Amino acid sequence: MKNWRLTFSTTYELSIVEDYLLEKGFTLSFISQETDGTCEAFATRAEGDLQESLQEAPYLKNLQFEEMLPPQVCWQTQAELHSPHFKNGKIEIKTQNHAASFFLHPAQAFGDASHETTQLMLMLIARHVKEHYVLDIGTGSGILAICAYLEGALKSYGVDIDQEALKAAKANVIENKLEKHVWIGEKKDLRLSKKANARLAIFANMISSELLVVLDEYKEYFESARLAILSGLLASEKTKIVENFKKIGWKLLEEEHLGEWIGLVFTR
Ligand SMILES: C[S@@+](CC[C@H](N)C(=O)[O-])C[C@H]1O[C@@H](n2cnc3c(N)ncnc32)[C@H](O)[C@@H]1O
Repeated sequence: MKNWRLTFSTTYELSIVEDYLLEKGFTLSFISQETDGTCEAFATRAEGDLQESLQEAPYLKNLQFEEMLPPQVCWQTQAELHSPHFKNGKIEIKTQNHAASFFLHPAQAFGDASHETTQLMLMLIARHVKEHYVLDIGTGSGILAICAYLEGALKSYGVDIDQEALKAAKANVIENKLEKHVWIGEKKDLRLSKKANARLAIFANMISSELLVVLDEYKEYFESARLAILSGLLASEKTKIVENFKKIGWKLLEEEHLGEWIGLVFTR
Protein backbone atom coordinates (compact mmCIF):
# COMPACT_ATOMS: atom_id res chain seq x y z
CA MET A 1 0.00 0.00 0.00
CA LYS A 2 1.13 3.55 -0.70
CA ASN A 3 -0.16 6.82 0.72
CA TRP A 4 -1.06 9.61 -1.69
CA ARG A 5 -1.99 13.27 -1.52
CA LEU A 6 -4.16 14.22 -4.50
CA THR A 7 -5.06 17.74 -5.56
CA PHE A 8 -7.56 18.48 -8.31
CA SER A 9 -10.55 20.61 -9.14
CA THR A 10 -14.04 19.41 -9.88
CA THR A 11 -17.50 20.73 -10.54
CA TYR A 12 -19.07 17.47 -9.34
CA GLU A 13 -20.36 16.74 -5.82
CA LEU A 14 -17.67 15.38 -3.51
CA SER A 15 -19.68 12.21 -2.92
CA ILE A 16 -19.49 11.42 -6.67
CA VAL A 17 -15.72 11.99 -6.64
CA GLU A 18 -15.39 9.80 -3.52
CA ASP A 19 -17.31 6.96 -5.19
CA TYR A 20 -15.14 7.30 -8.30
CA LEU A 21 -11.86 7.12 -6.31
CA LEU A 22 -13.19 4.13 -4.37
CA GLU A 23 -13.97 2.41 -7.68
CA LYS A 24 -10.37 3.06 -8.74
CA GLY A 25 -9.09 1.25 -5.66
CA PHE A 26 -8.37 4.18 -3.33
CA THR A 27 -9.23 4.17 0.37
CA LEU A 28 -9.84 7.78 1.32
CA SER A 29 -8.92 9.08 4.76
CA PHE A 30 -9.67 12.75 4.08
CA ILE A 31 -11.21 14.90 1.35
CA SER A 32 -12.04 18.60 1.33
CA GLN A 33 -13.11 21.24 -1.16
CA GLU A 34 -12.55 25.00 -1.32
CA THR A 35 -15.27 27.36 -2.57
CA ASP A 36 -13.46 27.64 -5.95
CA GLY A 37 -13.80 23.86 -6.47
CA THR A 38 -10.16 23.00 -5.64
CA CYS A 39 -9.94 19.73 -3.73
CA GLU A 40 -7.39 17.94 -1.60
CA ALA A 41 -7.60 14.25 -0.73
CA PHE A 42 -5.43 11.83 1.21
CA ALA A 43 -5.76 8.21 0.17
CA THR A 44 -4.07 4.83 0.16
CA ARG A 45 -3.96 2.47 -2.78
CA ALA A 46 -2.25 -0.80 -3.62
CA GLU A 47 0.76 -0.56 -5.95
CA GLY A 48 -0.04 0.05 -9.61
CA ASP A 49 0.26 2.73 -12.23
CA LEU A 50 -1.57 5.61 -10.64
CA GLN A 51 -1.08 7.96 -13.58
CA GLU A 52 -2.58 5.49 -16.03
CA SER A 53 -5.56 4.58 -13.86
CA LEU A 54 -6.60 8.22 -13.38
CA GLN A 55 -5.57 9.55 -16.79
CA GLU A 56 -9.08 9.59 -18.20
CA ALA A 57 -10.69 10.65 -14.91
CA PRO A 58 -13.72 12.69 -15.96
CA TYR A 59 -14.31 14.14 -12.49
CA LEU A 60 -10.77 15.28 -11.70
CA LYS A 61 -9.34 18.30 -13.50
CA ASN A 62 -5.71 19.49 -13.08
CA LEU A 63 -4.95 16.34 -11.12
CA GLN A 64 -1.64 16.23 -9.28
CA PHE A 65 -0.47 13.59 -6.85
CA GLU A 66 2.48 13.05 -4.56
CA GLU A 67 3.44 10.04 -2.53
CA MET A 68 3.35 10.61 1.22
CA LEU A 69 6.08 8.85 3.12
CA PRO A 70 5.10 7.46 6.52
CA PRO A 71 5.28 10.38 8.95
CA GLN A 72 7.82 10.41 11.77
CA VAL A 73 5.55 11.93 14.34
CA CYS A 74 5.86 12.52 18.06
CA TRP A 75 2.26 12.10 19.19
CA GLN A 76 2.99 13.72 22.54
CA THR A 77 4.12 16.92 20.76
CA GLN A 78 1.15 16.75 18.40
CA ALA A 79 -1.24 16.56 21.33
CA GLU A 80 0.54 19.44 23.05
CA LEU A 81 0.19 21.57 19.92
CA HIS A 82 -3.28 20.64 18.75
CA SER A 83 -5.37 19.12 21.51
CA PRO A 84 -7.20 21.76 23.56
CA HIS A 85 -7.55 19.21 26.36
CA PHE A 86 -3.89 18.24 26.82
CA LYS A 87 -2.64 18.31 30.42
CA ASN A 88 0.25 16.55 32.19
CA GLY A 89 1.06 14.27 29.25
CA LYS A 90 -2.54 13.12 28.74
CA ILE A 91 -5.65 14.38 27.00
CA GLU A 92 -8.53 14.98 29.39
CA ILE A 93 -12.06 14.52 28.05
CA LYS A 94 -15.10 15.55 30.07
CA THR A 95 -18.61 14.17 29.69
CA GLN A 96 -21.13 16.69 28.31
CA ASN A 97 -22.44 17.71 31.75
CA HIS A 98 -18.85 17.75 33.15
CA ALA A 99 -19.89 15.22 35.81
CA ALA A 100 -17.09 12.79 34.87
CA SER A 101 -13.88 12.83 32.91
CA PHE A 102 -11.39 10.35 31.46
CA PHE A 103 -7.89 10.41 29.98
CA LEU A 104 -6.44 9.42 26.61
CA HIS A 105 -2.78 8.81 25.79
CA PRO A 106 -1.56 10.81 22.79
CA ALA A 107 -1.22 8.24 19.97
CA GLN A 108 -1.61 7.70 16.26
CA ALA A 109 -5.29 6.78 16.62
CA PHE A 110 -7.94 9.34 15.59
CA GLY A 111 -10.14 10.69 18.37
CA ASP A 112 -8.98 13.34 20.86
CA ALA A 113 -12.16 15.48 20.64
CA SER A 114 -10.40 18.20 18.63
CA HIS A 115 -12.25 17.26 15.42
CA GLU A 116 -15.80 18.52 14.85
CA THR A 117 -17.10 15.07 13.92
CA THR A 118 -15.95 13.61 17.26
CA GLN A 119 -17.55 16.58 19.03
CA LEU A 120 -20.84 15.95 17.20
CA MET A 121 -20.72 12.30 18.21
CA LEU A 122 -20.04 13.14 21.88
CA MET A 123 -22.94 15.61 21.91
CA LEU A 124 -25.43 13.13 20.40
CA ILE A 125 -24.19 10.19 22.47
CA ALA A 126 -24.89 12.11 25.70
CA ARG A 127 -28.49 12.70 24.59
CA HIS A 128 -29.34 9.16 23.48
CA VAL A 129 -27.06 6.45 24.83
CA LYS A 130 -28.44 5.80 28.32
CA GLU A 131 -29.49 2.18 28.96
CA HIS A 132 -28.05 0.98 25.62
CA TYR A 133 -25.27 -1.42 24.79
CA VAL A 134 -22.88 0.18 22.32
CA LEU A 135 -21.10 -1.09 19.22
CA ASP A 136 -18.56 1.61 18.28
CA ILE A 137 -17.40 0.80 14.73
CA GLY A 138 -14.09 2.54 13.97
CA THR A 139 -13.31 3.21 17.61
CA GLY A 140 -9.95 4.94 16.94
CA SER A 141 -8.63 6.03 20.34
CA GLY A 142 -11.71 4.47 21.98
CA ILE A 143 -13.00 7.93 22.90
CA LEU A 144 -16.66 7.29 22.02
CA ALA A 145 -16.83 3.80 23.52
CA ILE A 146 -15.32 5.05 26.79
CA CYS A 147 -17.42 8.21 26.94
CA ALA A 148 -20.63 6.28 26.14
CA TYR A 149 -20.14 4.16 29.27
CA LEU A 150 -19.60 7.28 31.41
CA GLU A 151 -22.72 8.82 29.85
CA GLY A 152 -24.86 5.87 30.98
CA ALA A 153 -24.43 3.06 28.44
CA LEU A 154 -24.58 -0.46 29.91
CA LYS A 155 -21.43 -1.69 28.13
CA SER A 156 -19.39 -0.60 25.09
CA TYR A 157 -17.76 -2.71 22.40
CA GLY A 158 -15.21 -0.89 20.21
CA VAL A 159 -13.87 -2.36 16.95
CA ASP A 160 -11.43 -1.10 14.35
CA ILE A 161 -9.53 -2.37 11.31
CA ASP A 162 -6.40 -0.45 12.28
CA GLN A 163 -4.08 -2.33 14.66
CA GLU A 164 -2.52 0.92 15.91
CA ALA A 165 -5.98 2.19 16.85
CA LEU A 166 -6.79 -1.04 18.68
CA LYS A 167 -3.54 -0.79 20.67
CA ALA A 168 -4.25 2.84 21.58
CA ALA A 169 -7.90 2.16 22.50
CA LYS A 170 -6.96 -0.80 24.74
CA ALA A 171 -4.32 1.31 26.50
CA ASN A 172 -6.91 4.04 27.08
CA VAL A 173 -9.44 1.60 28.52
CA ILE A 174 -6.79 0.32 30.94
CA GLU A 175 -5.70 3.90 31.80
CA ASN A 176 -9.27 4.61 32.92
CA LYS A 177 -9.75 1.22 34.66
CA LEU A 178 -12.78 0.42 32.52
CA GLU A 179 -11.79 -3.08 31.36
CA LYS A 180 -15.04 -4.57 32.73
CA HIS A 181 -17.20 -2.05 30.91
CA VAL A 182 -15.47 -1.33 27.60
CA TRP A 183 -14.33 -4.17 25.32
CA ILE A 184 -11.95 -3.39 22.44
CA GLY A 185 -11.05 -5.82 19.67
CA GLU A 186 -11.44 -7.01 16.10
CA LYS A 187 -14.81 -7.72 14.49
CA LYS A 188 -14.03 -11.45 14.25
CA ASP A 189 -13.78 -11.63 18.08
CA LEU A 190 -16.94 -9.64 18.77
CA ARG A 191 -19.53 -11.58 20.82
CA LEU A 192 -22.71 -9.74 21.82
CA SER A 193 -25.16 -11.32 24.23
CA LYS A 194 -28.89 -11.55 23.37
CA LYS A 195 -29.52 -8.76 25.87
CA ALA A 196 -26.92 -6.53 24.19
CA ASN A 197 -28.33 -7.22 20.71
CA ALA A 198 -31.81 -6.26 21.93
CA ARG A 199 -30.69 -2.83 23.21
CA LEU A 200 -27.93 -2.03 20.78
CA ALA A 201 -26.77 1.44 19.68
CA ILE A 202 -24.28 1.56 16.81
CA PHE A 203 -21.77 4.43 16.50
CA ALA A 204 -19.79 5.16 13.34
CA ASN A 205 -17.74 8.31 12.81
CA MET A 206 -16.13 7.88 9.39
CA ILE A 207 -16.34 9.24 5.85
CA SER A 208 -19.39 8.23 3.83
CA SER A 209 -17.60 5.77 1.52
CA GLU A 210 -16.32 3.88 4.59
CA LEU A 211 -19.74 4.05 6.25
CA LEU A 212 -21.42 2.41 3.25
CA VAL A 213 -18.89 -0.44 3.40
CA VAL A 214 -19.55 -0.78 7.14
CA LEU A 215 -23.33 -0.92 6.55
CA ASP A 216 -22.72 -4.08 4.58
CA GLU A 217 -19.94 -5.58 6.73
CA TYR A 218 -21.99 -5.11 9.92
CA LYS A 219 -25.38 -5.94 8.32
CA GLU A 220 -26.43 -8.34 11.11
CA TYR A 221 -25.76 -5.69 13.77
CA PHE A 222 -27.65 -2.99 11.85
CA GLU A 223 -30.54 -5.47 11.65
CA SER A 224 -30.73 -5.93 15.42
CA ALA A 225 -29.78 -2.42 16.63
CA ARG A 226 -32.44 0.14 17.56
CA LEU A 227 -30.28 3.29 17.45
CA ALA A 228 -27.47 4.49 15.19
CA ILE A 229 -25.37 7.61 15.78
CA LEU A 230 -23.24 8.69 12.83
CA SER A 231 -20.85 11.43 11.84
CA GLY A 232 -17.80 11.91 9.63
CA LEU A 233 -20.30 13.06 7.01
CA LEU A 234 -20.46 16.31 5.11
CA ALA A 235 -23.80 18.10 5.44
CA SER A 236 -24.11 17.82 1.63
CA GLU A 237 -24.15 14.01 1.98
CA LYS A 238 -27.20 13.90 4.27
CA THR A 239 -29.73 12.92 1.59
CA LYS A 240 -27.60 10.05 0.29
CA ILE A 241 -27.09 8.63 3.79
CA VAL A 242 -30.74 9.06 4.84
CA GLU A 243 -31.85 7.25 1.65
CA ASN A 244 -29.48 4.35 2.34
CA PHE A 245 -30.75 4.00 5.91
CA LYS A 246 -34.42 4.31 4.87
CA LYS A 247 -33.95 1.37 2.50
CA ILE A 248 -33.05 -0.87 5.47
CA GLY A 249 -35.85 0.34 7.74
CA TRP A 250 -34.29 3.23 9.68
CA LYS A 251 -35.69 6.73 10.13
CA LEU A 252 -33.88 9.97 10.94
CA LEU A 253 -34.53 11.09 14.53
CA GLU A 254 -32.18 14.04 14.96
CA GLU A 255 -29.36 15.95 13.30
CA GLU A 256 -26.68 18.38 14.49
CA HIS A 257 -24.27 20.52 12.47
CA LEU A 258 -20.76 21.82 13.20
CA GLY A 259 -19.07 23.69 10.34
CA GLU A 260 -19.42 21.63 7.16
CA TRP A 261 -19.99 18.42 9.16
CA ILE A 262 -23.20 16.73 10.21
CA GLY A 263 -24.10 14.25 12.94
CA LEU A 264 -27.16 12.04 12.43
CA VAL A 265 -29.21 9.91 14.82
CA PHE A 266 -31.33 7.12 13.32
CA THR A 267 -33.91 4.93 15.03
CA ARG A 268 -36.25 2.09 14.06
C1 LIG B 1 -12.51 9.20 11.87
S1 LIG B 1 -11.90 7.86 12.81
C2 LIG B 1 -13.02 7.91 14.21
C3 LIG B 1 -12.34 7.68 15.54
C4 LIG B 1 -13.23 7.88 16.76
N1 LIG B 1 -14.33 6.93 16.77
C5 LIG B 1 -13.79 9.31 16.82
O1 LIG B 1 -15.00 9.46 16.65
O2 LIG B 1 -13.05 10.26 17.03
C6 LIG B 1 -12.51 6.49 11.85
C7 LIG B 1 -11.99 5.13 12.30
O3 LIG B 1 -12.71 4.16 11.56
C8 LIG B 1 -11.85 3.07 11.30
N2 LIG B 1 -12.46 2.29 10.18
C9 LIG B 1 -12.54 2.62 8.88
N3 LIG B 1 -13.17 1.63 8.19
C10 LIG B 1 -13.51 0.67 9.09
C11 LIG B 1 -14.16 -0.60 8.99
N4 LIG B 1 -14.61 -1.07 7.83
N5 LIG B 1 -14.33 -1.32 10.12
C12 LIG B 1 -13.88 -0.87 11.31
N6 LIG B 1 -13.22 0.32 11.46
C13 LIG B 1 -13.05 1.08 10.37
C14 LIG B 1 -10.51 3.74 11.00
O4 LIG B 1 -9.44 2.84 11.16
C15 LIG B 1 -10.51 4.87 12.04
O5 LIG B 1 -9.88 4.48 13.25
